[in-house]
Amino acid sequence: MSNKINAKISQTAQMTCGGRALSYYTKDKYYKSDDYLAPIFMSPFFVFIVKRFPSFASRFAAKGGGYEYLVSRTKLIDEFIKNNSKRFQQVLILGAGFDSRAIRFNSKLSHATIFEFDAPITQNIKINKLKGKNIKLPSNLKFIPINFTEESLAQKLDEAGLKKEIPSLYILEGLTYYLTPETINTIFNQISKYSGKDSIIVFDYMYSSVIRQKNVSKVEERIYQNAEKIGEKLIFGIENGKIEQFLSQYKFELIEEFDSNKLEKKYFCNEKQEIIASVIGIHSIVIARKSV
Ligand SMILES: C[S@@+](CC[C@H](N)C(=O)[O-])C[C@H]1O[C@@H](n2cnc3c(N)ncnc32)[C@H](O)[C@@H]1O
Repeated sequence: MSNKINAKISQTAQMTCGGRALSYYTKDKYYKSDDYLAPIFMSPFFVFIVKRFPSFASRFAAKGGGYEYLVSRTKLIDEFIKNNSKRFQQVLILGAGFDSRAIRFNSKLSHATIFEFDAPITQNIKINKLKGKNIKLPSNLKFIPINFTEESLAQKLDEAGLKKEIPSLYILEGLTYYLTPETINTIFNQISKYSGKDSIIVFDYMYSSVIRQKNVSKVEERIYQNAEKIGEKLIFGIENGKIEQFLSQYKFELIEEFDSNKLEKKYFCNEKQEIIASVIGIHSIVIARKSV
């Protein structure tokens, strides 16, 4: 993974952004989310198709519940920022890809400094696309190029002037599964060391069973193989049911964990309390607080 992202744009960043662009154009209320900037990062052909034929594209995307997971994750993290932005003076987005929250929520985050970390090639492409569309970059947004596997996050945080010991928000969306356990341990230790009490981390992870490829379903097998094919292999997971133990190593305590059942109830449940779509059951989204 680290070599690939040094050499070319992250394909998984493009794919997740493509999903958000589709979700933005769709009229179906269950699938609709608000990332109006996602289309600017995608090719004109892709945008033409998803804008003109959103229902068709949605049906195509919604096979196996991966798209539903992406839509739920986007909505959940958007809602969290909308409702909690005032609590944080610093927002750090690790593996930001084409995340546009620094711009979309700028009025809510104008008091905060926002740090976006990503592999240099992907980050440069993002900056150039934003500039090419004359989108003003907020003055409180700092872009920090990094390869987490090869470089020290702590050094980058020091260089960027991160203030320790104040409440910060860390977002790692769609990142953890691509890093080695050693890199994850280093990143979480550094986050723990740099964040003040009541800092919050929002991240998602895959279950270790998917990484082990043991007793996996056809869909899980396909996801694993596709990731390997595009060179962004799935290598890190946490055992289902063991998130609190994982967090306690880094002095974080769980606020809430959203597995597929919870996400289905929250985002794909109709007025009759029926679940109208399935969310793939291989990830969880975690919101946790720094406890000391
Ligand atoms: C699936 S994408 C998610 C992007 C974004 N957070 C989102 O949800 O749309 C994974 C992101 O992690 C970044 N990434 C993966 N491995 C990395 C590494 N070793 N160093 C820096 N960034 C990395 C990729 O460049 C990519 O932007």
